[in-house]
Amino acid sequence: MNQIFEKAVIGKIKLQNRLIRSATFEGMADENGRPLEALSDLYMKIAEGGAGAIITGFAGVRKNGKAFKGMCMIDSDEHLAEYRKLSGRVTKHGTPIIIQLAHAGGQTGPSITGGQAVAPSKKFYASSQARARALTGDEIEGIIDGFAGAVLRAKKAGFSGAQLHAAHGYLLSEFLSPAQNRRNDMWGGDTENRFRIIARIMEKARDLAGDYPIWVKMNAYDFERGGMRMNEALKTAVLFQKHGFDAIEVSCGSGNDGFNSIRMSINPAEAMARMMPVIRDMPGIKKALFKIASPLLLKNYRPLTNYNIDAAEKIKREVDIPVIAVGGMRRLADIENAIAENRADFISMSRPFIIEPGIVNKFRSGRQSESRCINCGICLIGVMENPLKCYNGRVPEAK
Ligand SMILES: Cc1cc2nc3c(=O)[nH]c(=O)nc-3n(C[C@H](O)[C@H](O)[C@H](O)COP(=O)(O)O)c2cc1C
Repeated sequence: MNQIFEKAVIGKIKLQNRLIRSATFEGMADENGRPLEALSDLYMKIAEGGAGAIITGFAGVRKNGKAFKGMCMIDSDEHLAEYRKLSGRVTKHGTPIIIQLAHAGGQTGPSITGGQAVAPSKKFYASSQARARALTGDEIEGIIDGFAGAVLRAKKAGFSGAQLHAAHGYLLSEFLSPAQNRRNDMWGGDTENRFRIIARIMEKARDLAGDYPIWVKMNAYDFERGGMRMNEALKTAVLFQKHGFDAIEVSCGSGNDGFNSIRMSINPAEAMARMMPVIRDMPGIKKALFKIASPLLLKNYRPLTNYNIDAAEKIKREVDIPVIAVGGMRRLADIENAIAENRADFISMSRPFIIEPGIVNKFRSGRQSESRCINCGICLIGVMENPLKCYNGRVPEAK
């Protein structure tokens, strides 16, 4: 019955239990991407609160792949000493910590990176209100070096492993998506070609870092026209296994979907107008139009709970490596059933750890059987400019 609270392994990593903190951007780095003390304090709270393992918020592997102000960067050796200190605190406690590595692709803009965003193919992004240009072949090689170099740095910095962020419309998931990747060179076209950038990253990372644990977070589906669908995701998952990934975390959605990866119980229009820089700083008329149109345009994705478990189960049937399911996992009974019924090997959660860093111990002791998170999603909008916190449904006054 309480199988989820027993120790478990993913390859060489020994987890405290089967409940993982999923990557959650914390906005706790300085302007150069150096992790702040507050970040390591937060990880300690989650570790002491009983998490089986911690996946960090995404860290940028290239300057032009920085997604938000306050994002940790691991594009050079500059912050290795701080990363070492941070990982050391958590692993000393016995909790593995896996650093998530990312490139924002088109989902960023000049206000963050100082230059035009890059993507597999050129495109206008509503989320950043900016146009991204298509990467050249040489630039793709540079990004491969960026990811592989970051894997080696993760190893040197004492992280238990690294996770490639290939979900949610960021660069690697854009390469995988038939909607975002319209290239007709060797980096686009069929599934293998769209996967090529990841295959090359893995090859290089293995050269540099040997059998260091490397996980991936992928989209099983999104709602973009011609985008990622289950059949394609199954083929992609098989390629992840073939290329030596140690685990697959199954998620969904992209920035172009709206809030599908991170589903919300409230319509976020008001929070966006007040807190999201790209909307808040719009000229008056554009902002007024946004306020009128957005409650109608922003989709309220449902269900709010357990929304990737079916997809995780399908992927689990195709591969032998461990599968982690994320997305609206809130009730202990649902988590126990998912594991007992072999629908996923591990469960990860993001927002429940924001409102209650000690949620796993609360579950384990029987004190609580459900997260207190109400899925308002304001944490996501707030973290674009402020350190991560739970707003519990309250939209702060406009600045
Ligand atoms: C504030 C916030 C920041 C997030 N940052 C990341 C991130 O850095 N990398 C990532 O893969 N997912 C990120 N996510 C998505 C979560 O990992 C997770 O996939 C999603 O929130 C669904 O899980 P949940 O319902 O347990 O919150 C973030 C979610 C939130 C709410």
